Amino acid sequence: MQKEIYYPNPEFAKDARINSMEQYHQLMDEAKRDYEGYWKKFADEKIEWYKPYSKVLDESNAPFYKWFTDGKLNVSNQCIDRHLEKRGDQTAILFEGDRGDVEHISYKELSERVNRFANLLKEKFGIKKGDRVVLYMPMIPEAAYAMLACARIGAIHSIVFGGFSAEALKDRIIDAEAKLVITADGAYRKGKPYLLKPVVDQALSDGVDSVEAVLVVQRNREEINWVEGRDHNYNELIESFSTKCEPEMMDSEDPLFLLYTSGSTGKPKGVQHSTAGYILWAQMTMEWVFDLREGDVFWCTADIGWITGHTYIVYGPLAAGTTTVMFEGVVTYPDAGRAWKMIEQHGITQFYTAPTAIRLLHKMGADEPKKYDLSKVRVLGTVGEPIDPPAWKWYYEVVGRGKASIVDTWWQTETGGHMISPLPGATPIKPGSATFPLPGIMAEVIECDGSPTPVGEKGFLCITKPWPSMIRTIWGDPERFKKSYFGDCKKYGKPVYFSGDGAMVDEEGYITITGRTDDVINVSGHRIGTAEIESAIKKIDRVAVSAVVGKPHNIKGEGIFAYIVLKDANDDKEAIKEEINAVLKQEIGAIALCDEIVFVPDVPKTRSGKIMRRLLRSIAKGEPITQDTSTLEDPTVVDEIQKIVKEG
Ligand code: WT7
Repeated sequence: MQKEIYYPNPEFAKDARINSMEQYHQLMDEAKRDYEGYWKKFADEKIEWYKPYSKVLDESNAPFYKWFTDGKLNVSNQCIDRHLEKRGDQTAILFEGDRGDVEHISYKELSERVNRFANLLKEKFGIKKGDRVVLYMPMIPEAAYAMLACARIGAIHSIVFGGFSAEALKDRIIDAEAKLVITADGAYRKGKPYLLKPVVDQALSDGVDSVEAVLVVQRNREEINWVEGRDHNYNELIESFSTKCEPEMMDSEDPLFLLYTSGSTGKPKGVQHSTAGYILWAQMTMEWVFDLREGDVFWCTADIGWITGHTYIVYGPLAAGTTTVMFEGVVTYPDAGRAWKMIEQHGITQFYTAPTAIRLLHKMGADEPKKYDLSKVRVLGTVGEPIDPPAWKWYYEVVGRGKASIVDTWWQTETGGHMISPLPGATPIKPGSATFPLPGIMAEVIECDGSPTPVGEKGFLCITKPWPSMIRTIWGDPERFKKSYFGDCKKYGKPVYFSGDGAMVDEEGYITITGRTDDVINVSGHRIGTAEIESAIKKIDRVAVSAVVGKPHNIKGEGIFAYIVLKDANDDKEAIKEEINAVLKQEIGAIALCDEIVFVPDVPKTRSGKIMRRLLRSIAKGEPITQDTSTLEDPTVVDEIQKIVKEG
């Protein structure tokens, strides 16, 4: 299948940081020739070290790799202090509230606020290096101050997305043994105030021993419950703390943050990131993939509760010294023109969002972008799921006016930063393909035995060499870290990182991501484990068995499709549907609600009792069954389920 190829706009490419495929190959060859030397060059050039490192990469305890051994640095220094002389008055964070309120926070102001915040954490709450601090925050600048304040004093932050429920928040607080929770009364969304603090109250109501205090930022000043002695008002406290706080000398390998993500079992994994390797790659990818230049205004629409928000709203842009936009609201409110209006108003030069948002904006107003001046936009990014060709085309032609480069960036919570992506001034693009690994990243599509997958066939997407910003471990569970990502290391002669995604390589080396190969589904670019959903549904007594699969959805990418077997087939199905969604909302959050629920007499199982999810996925999609069903415990169940699904 020959796909259309789009070449970089020559006018733009001539000044790009990486402006040809020759330059790309040169960098890649360098990395292949001398891997450590390649990374050393960038680590020396990009990072302000307090004390130089002694070794670039230590593989002696693989897969627990260490980068830049014994080096000392501080991420808040990298993101703030070192810019002050040159960029003190430049806007660091450009905040736009849901209701259109705008605030420019300069690097100098950012420095004062982060230093104050760091002193508050240290002096008021006794937070020390290595302590865990959970953030349950809306998209307001204080969230970024809190992250950087933690980094400044060496505390490990763990951000829980504001859409997660009290139960999910509680699990994450307990797993991290957090000492402090930082939250807000609430914020604004679609013109209305909403609340976060009550969720924190509920999460802490029972069975959490580690939390000593809750720090509350006032955003909407709605009435909230107050626990005397435990709760503290940020706005009242902050001004009394000094604007100078010496950054802690952090080791390259000290953890910078934890971020929980879904895996194939019920319990979310606390992905642990490092200090030096993470910030280096955050900065490098920021510069390369978005072709960052002086005066740029960069907008990533993610939430800081996801890795995209960590790396491309806060750490990457600030380490690179650019202006980063932080938006409290949603891009479809008050209308389909909000995003385009913001791009025009703030002179945004790079816009980074998810395919699900692109599809929605396209559907809501295909011609809407034409009403605004989007001429400053040079790079348009996508992340989170494969982008379908119609969405790609609209993004390219209407939003980018055929001039901006589209970068389809493939990466994961675990990779810390982009791994496979076009370089906007160099890579000829085939829509739907994330194209090539970034310089220095050794991505390959392989078979179970480690041999390369033939061209045009689906294989496992793996990273065959460690990279600086990779996950270091799963918090409190190093065994699970090894098992989840490195399989049986011996088989390949060396540990190889398995991403959990399938991919295909074409004859020219273009990589196309085909989706997860494990039991994880991708809803609107967010990862949810089917096991997590099933274990929540299990709490309903009247359900005998549940099996959850992903089904293609025209806006969300994938929707959640649940097969339910009732203990009593005559039970009230509508009531149970409601109960299922209520339990999912309570245990996980609104992102886990089912799009479709079907009641079936049984689910297909192998003779050893394993649910055949592959079959269930095919049935949900309405695909003909090509798999061999003869090994099933009861093959007739397949026809029955197919009939039920077809009849809706
Ligand atoms: C999973 C990672 C990394 C930021 C957002 C999600 C899917 C991510 C792409 C892309 C196709 C993609 C993968 C991956 N994914 N980017 N450009 N094309 N699929 O982070 O929650 O850790 O999810 O998102 O399946 O494994 P995450």
